Amino acid sequence: MFRPLFWEEDHLVLLDQTRLPWEERWLRLARWEEVAEAIRTLRVRGAPALGIAAAYGLALAALRPKPGRTPRQEVAEAREGLRQTRPTAVNLFWALERMGRVAQSAPEEALFPALLAEARRIHEEDIAANLRMGEFGAALLPPGARVLTICNTGALATGGHGTALGILRTAWSQGKLGRVYVCETRPVLQGARLTAWELLREGIPFRLLADFAVGLLFRRGEVDAVLVGADRIAQNGDFANKLGTYVLAVLAHRHGVPFYVAAPSSSFDLSLPAGEAIPIEERPEEEVLAPYGCRFAPEGARAWNPAFDLTPGELVTAFVTERGVIRPPYARTIPAALSG
Ligand code: MRU
Repeated sequence: MFRPLFWEEDHLVLLDQTRLPWEERWLRLARWEEVAEAIRTLRVRGAPALGIAAAYGLALAALRPKPGRTPRQEVAEAREGLRQTRPTAVNLFWALERMGRVAQSAPEEALFPALLAEARRIHEEDIAANLRMGEFGAALLPPGARVLTICNTGALATGGHGTALGILRTAWSQGKLGRVYVCETRPVLQGARLTAWELLREGIPFRLLADFAVGLLFRRGEVDAVLVGADRIAQNGDFANKLGTYVLAVLAHRHGVPFYVAAPSSSFDLSLPAGEAIPIEERPEEEVLAPYGCRFAPEGARAWNPAFDLTPGELVTAFVTERGVIRPPYARTIPAALSG
């Protein structure tokens, strides 16, 4: 199975996603600060992958404390530093909490092996969750399904296999999938660059769409289901995901098409009763004005660049998790499915 990041000897090895699809450049990261930089600049991205990278980052902190620091002091600083990288995906905070509990109970001399073992567990559990979601989700799709998706929710966004794209991978292996429609996902083009890269490697048929082609696509009855990922899901089913997801949900509702969200339980934030409290990351204006160094907008133009939008739970047909499929009323069913 393809993994976009993994531990090798005493380094974290990570595929630089800002270079895809032009170049497969693997980075060897030795320090937690390099992991924080990779997260901030989207070299590694996608909610579950952020949690896994941050977990390995804490292992690196324990392995290489700065002169004059104990491993425990370095880990504490790394936790704080990694928390500051990206605010929306709750998986990042979930993984840092979980690693923090291990750090607290491990003796100083065993800190590094304990943290590395926990990071590896988080990674393996994520892959196992994705494979289970693949089975649950594929069962929801009609034969020959034409499925619309956005951003990249594949192996690249996770420990391996993927969430929404993992379901499509499983459905394809079962002979159930007709075609995938992929929104290019402006401004940084995770759909065009990353999802297209993954689907081509798998030989799964797809068409790439300029984002606003979706309206005509729905009108023509070409979509059987919408399948997206999530960065943070509140108790009532409101959720944050890549900018444009809300547009797809409204269109799906208007056209009577099922709208599914695939996410592991680490993407749910039960401390939030509703979505309004989810912090929405705003990214540099340059990503909109001059993506990848190609300036479209005139000098002096300003941009607004929220990385995510918020979709109300009432537009979600079902959530697919590793624990099964969750249906409304979410304020009751989400806590019930995730407790225990
Ligand atoms: O800004 P990104 O590329 O990290 O955004 C990723 C998404 O919005 C994904 O849909 C989400 O993290 C789920 S990934 C399985």
